[in-house]
Amino acid sequence: MIEIRDVHKFFGLLHVLRGVDLTVEDGKVLVIIGPSGSGKTTLLRCFNLLERPDRGILRLDDLQLEFTPTSTVPQRLVLALRQRTGMVFQSYNLFPHMTALGNVMEGQVTVQKRPKAEARERGIELLTKVGLADKGDAYPHQLSGGQQQRVAIARAMAVEPEVLLFDEPTSALDPELVGEVLKVIRQLAAEGMTMVIVTHEMKFAADVADQMVMMDNGVILEQGTPQQVLKHPRNLRALQFLNRLSGEEE
Ligand SMILES: Nc1ncnc2c1ncn2[C@@H]1O[C@H](COP(=O)(O)OP(=O)(O)OP(=O)(O)O)[C@@H](O)[C@H]1O
Ligand SMILES: [Mg+2]
Repeated sequence: MIEIRDVHKFFGLLHVLRGVDLTVEDGKVLVIIGPSGSGKTTLLRCFNLLERPDRGILRLDDLQLEFTPTSTVPQRLVLALRQRTGMVFQSYNLFPHMTALGNVMEGQVTVQKRPKAEARERGIELLTKVGLADKGDAYPHQLSGGQQQRVAIARAMAVEPEVLLFDEPTSALDPELVGEVLKVIRQLAAEGMTMVIVTHEMKFAADVADQMVMMDNGVILEQGTPQQVLKHPRNLRALQFLNRLSGEEE
């Protein structure tokens, strides 16, 4: 289970996360939506500790990290949380000098200290799972955006994270490549992977999400089932955001 309690983040004087509370049960999918600049990426980066929260509690099952402006969290806990969460970025972030298989093997060998042969075997298994069995030897520049993103998902899965965090995994893709990536994410959801997904793909979000939150200006504005959030928002700003979205789709 993921728990986020009263998390705050400042960039200088800018108060970007202003007390965020979230819970995601094991095997559930939480989708985060909200306007640009509302803090969605920052929240994911804080949970993965690419950014350090200024205040608040992050919990993943038995692992709890408490942040205050004056205390430091032991590095061993920071590494533990990082290792137990996988992150998939909008821009794939594959290692350009490594093949697809090399990318999927890397974390297994360096972080998990797996023997290479075993890492290779698991790498091939994961590439097959994301539909890229024949692309193991290809370098990122030889792959389409959708293929690169599927390699990135396989890479995130390779170190057996307990949760996967996705930051707009399809927003850099040409429309015809979006479907193949969403299909892989749907499959992971069906297999019971715990996931937090930031996305603007509303139809996909409504399908895949058990819970949805809408962020605005560093706080959670709406929270509930996709049906509740998308069809019956209680907040005027939420309604305005949704109206703007549906305007864009038409
Ligand atoms: N490293 C940083 N330094 C300074 N300000 C930052 C930094 N990262 C983000 N911000 C600011 O924090 C706010 C929230 O940014 P964030 O990227 O989390 O928004 P977002 O909801 O993901 O937006 P988008 O939908 O455009 O991706 C913005 O005002 C942004 O300019
Ligand atoms: Mg973002």
